[in-house]
Amino acid sequence: MPPRSPVKLALLFLLFGYLCQLDMNEPMLNMKRDTIHDENRQGESYAPVCDDPVEYSRKFYIESYGCQMNFADSEIVASILNDSGFGVTRNVEEADLVFLNTCSIREKAEQTVRKRLTEFRKIKKARPGMLVGMLGCMAERLKSKLLEEEKLVDIVVGPDAYRSLPALIGEAEGGQKAVNVLLSREETYADISPVRLDSNGVTAFVSIMRGCNNMCSFCVVPFTRGRERSRDARSIVDECRDLFEAGFREVTLLGQNVDSYYWNPLLSDPNNQDNNIGQLHHPVTFAGLLQMVAAISPLLRVRFSTSHPKDITDEVLLAMAGHENICKYIHLPVQSGSNRILQLMNRTYTREWYKAKINRIREIMPECGISSDIIAGFCTETESDHADTLNLMEYCRYDMSYMFYYSERPGTLAQKRFRDDVPLELKKSRLEEIVKLQQDMSLQSNQNDLGKTFKVLIEGDSRKSADHWMGRNSHNKVIVFPKKENGLDKGDYVKVNVKECTGATLIGEMM
Ligand code: 5AD
Ligand code: SF4
Repeated sequence: MPPRSPVKLALLFLLFGYLCQLDMNEPMLNMKRDTIHDENRQGESYAPVCDDPVEYSRKFYIESYGCQMNFADSEIVASILNDSGFGVTRNVEEADLVFLNTCSIREKAEQTVRKRLTEFRKIKKARPGMLVGMLGCMAERLKSKLLEEEKLVDIVVGPDAYRSLPALIGEAEGGQKAVNVLLSREETYADISPVRLDSNGVTAFVSIMRGCNNMCSFCVVPFTRGRERSRDARSIVDECRDLFEAGFREVTLLGQNVDSYYWNPLLSDPNNQDNNIGQLHHPVTFAGLLQMVAAISPLLRVRFSTSHPKDITDEVLLAMAGHENICKYIHLPVQSGSNRILQLMNRTYTREWYKAKINRIREIMPECGISSDIIAGFCTETESDHADTLNLMEYCRYDMSYMFYYSERPGTLAQKRFRDDVPLELKKSRLEEIVKLQQDMSLQSNQNDLGKTFKVLIEGDSRKSADHWMGRNSHNKVIVFPKKENGLDKGDYVKVNVKECTGATLIGEMM
């Protein structure tokens, strides 16, 4: 991996916060909370670089939607654009290029982006030279339709084609249609140093693989992000070490299905060139990768997302248990509690198998935080299937969940095979019951922490008050606590005793 340029290092520290938070209006009644799939970040745009030594003559503006992978991809796009002379701005009015990094996972996500595009069209009327580009899953799904039929955008680039952005911008500037939605079996952007956008300088996301081979019947991701492929383990470790040396204290390893990470140095690099983590003679599994990253420093926390119940192994659980700095938190989406629905969803496990996984996690790490994704109202779901979901949730005692009602996506197996026959009102009322149950369980889980003391990594000021720090414990719970005059800063670890709580936040005091 090439060394970071001073500009990129400056970006790591200097990009701050974000200005524009669009209300996603997601119908899923998601519980708002800082997490891997942070709904509060939807439509995030990026701050300008203060004191950037490079004077970019042209500017780009980028907004990101969807999962954390998309936010990580925007940082790769920023790196590619910086290298071709475009500096980032959070002011769309001064941008020569406007990009939306989009999500297709539910219909509502696409509607939000369409609405945003029509707003950009108005700005474009006043500034005809401005180019609008669509990136990500929606670009992949709709391909040139957006250029030809809807005439909403000038550039369309799928998730595996970001390296061609500079050439496509050139084509679009010359008045041509600029589209590249080719999916790849190899692309991992391993050699590109992401520019950390909107960073707090403490926590960062690191992509370890791309695509998904699972074919859950409701999911559009295998079609928009292509086949699964794992990134060179050495480049992952290098990126994490660079982050640590730049002051970061937590990395989250990202993939649609991290447990199937598998990288074989002998296949990928027959010369097996030595680098600063030494030669690798064996294939690297996810458990191996976790340990390699955890070995960078005991001060660097390691998280990961997302795990698939069928793939998470004892090896991974034991690696977690064996390293204090691998966080004790697993996001293990169940999707449904009914065996019949799980089969229709092509999840390849039963509720009994899932329960056994939960038991195994708690056996190895009794205090491990566990969260889930749940879909209400999938095709043919009956009251009894729904009751199975509720009682499985109760069994698992999730600390939190992301909850959605089923949204049929074109091209998916479910759309081809099954009728989306649960009426919207029923989907919504079942979702409400699921959300209510989760809220009760989240509150209960936080109440169980009253009086306990946790090691907390300070991430910055609390949102509500600059007199309070906000951080997280290993189990991924947000803890807010008053600052004291003791020279602490973000990136520091402190012991915090929990005094109060809400369903979403622990409130404590430093020991
Ligand atoms: N409808 C509703 N929710 C969906 N998800 C994925 N596809 C759909 C869909 N078509 C949810 C799943 C997945 C999460 C990222 O989004 O719960 O785990
Ligand atoms: Fe979609 Fe299933 Fe792959 Fe997750 S594991 S991205 S839900 S197909």
